[in-house]
Amino acid sequence: MLSDIEIKNKLKSFGRLEKDFSDLDLLIENISNKNEEIRFLAITNLAKLGDVKFLNTYKKLIQSEPSSRVRREIASAIGRIRSTKCIPLLFELLKDKDPNIILQSIRGLLVFKDDKEVITKVKRLKRHKNEIIRKVIRTEFPDQGNSDKKNTVEFPEKLKNCIIKGDALKILKKVEDESIHLTFTSPPYYNARDYSIYSSYKEYISLMSEIFKEVHRTTKDGRFLVLNTSPVIMPRAGRKYSSTRYPIPYDIHNELVNMGWEFVDDILWVKPEPSAKNRIAGFEMHRKPLAYKPNCVTEQIMVYRKETTKLIDWVYKQYPEEVLKDSIVDNGYETSNVWHIAPRSSKKHSAIFPIELCDRVINYYSFKGDLIYDPFAGSGSVGKSAIKNERNFFLNELDESYYNDALNDLQKDLFFEKIKTSI
Ligand SMILES: C[S@@+](CC[C@H](N)C(=O)[O-])C[C@H]1O[C@@H](n2cnc3c(N)ncnc32)[C@H](O)[C@@H]1O
Repeated sequence: MLSDIEIKNKLKSFGRLEKDFSDLDLLIENISNKNEEIRFLAITNLAKLGDVKFLNTYKKLIQSEPSSRVRREIASAIGRIRSTKCIPLLFELLKDKDPNIILQSIRGLLVFKDDKEVITKVKRLKRHKNEIIRKVIRTEFPDQGNSDKKNTVEFPEKLKNCIIKGDALKILKKVEDESIHLTFTSPPYYNARDYSIYSSYKEYISLMSEIFKEVHRTTKDGRFLVLNTSPVIMPRAGRKYSSTRYPIPYDIHNELVNMGWEFVDDILWVKPEPSAKNRIAGFEMHRKPLAYKPNCVTEQIMVYRKETTKLIDWVYKQYPEEVLKDSIVDNGYETSNVWHIAPRSSKKHSAIFPIELCDRVINYYSFKGDLIYDPFAGSGSVGKSAIKNERNFFLNELDESYYNDALNDLQKDLFFEKIKTSI
């Protein structure tokens, strides 16, 4: 009698199996072994045979098997048989609780793409509650408008190197669908700075949400939105009241995901501690628990992609070879999601981006010649970095004084090309 280790080693040693495989008994004996790993390996090997005579065995096993990992392997084994006899069982498995079993059944059923009933049943999963299943079905059966021939490179000439004074929401309404390659922006920090005032936090979040819905519409398929925000603190209304902290990145995140921005990454922008407001001083004096208030040296850089069924490779294919080559990111790029960058200060604007931060975002998330958008342009840092990195900019800024400063500054950087100021 073989020990568990010997069985495992033997099961691991099998490569490709032919129909006349001589150790079949070892596989059959071990599909019900007490040891989960052995059951898994036995099924993996049995699946290689792709033999329809095991269909009933698989059917019974998948109903009684306690391990999710082994059940998924059984579902995969059923799919690998590639016989129409499996279709009723694969239909059954489409109702499974485990999304991975459903995905295995979909894979098994897609072999029968000419069978109308199969396709109808699979397509119904477009509205399945699991997001990965919905994504797979959308990719397999793209909507008619989602053609491969979309223009992902060019953009309307009127937006090229253009800064417009006014409310981003109103301006965006005049921009055609799928015009923008990348948006990098830092929205107002609710009422924490004096350049914008909202009557409530709810109103602020809903206004931001309206703007980012428009950014979504005007962004090209599968392209990126990079958003810089951070929690803010509103000072106490008086000595008897406590201060209020607003978790802006977390509240905006939910809105973005619900409107079709797919979450890609969270990057932490870390600033040197002396540049942060001193909140710890009180605690340092008394050291009393519950009153601990750390100095906030981070801001979030949240990365989203416009939800699409297209892979990044599809985007690469749309660009000429020389643009792809020219856009390769230089050595010295950041390898972690913690970016240590000192803040930049300005006498004219209280919250401006360091150019290095813009450079990184623009170089990592766009190609040379792309159109980079900032709905909350402030001093125009995104435009400055776009010029420096051989991209084009489209900016909006509500405040007249910030707008004029940004326009003058950018015009100097752009030399002979006259900046557009309307669309
Ligand atoms: C955090 S600052 C952006 C600073 C900018 N990243 C820079 O580097 O200078 C936000 C800016 O958004 C502007 N703003 C606020 N609401 C706006 C709106 N509805 N449309 C356009 N700009 C707006 C404010 O005037 C402010 O300059």
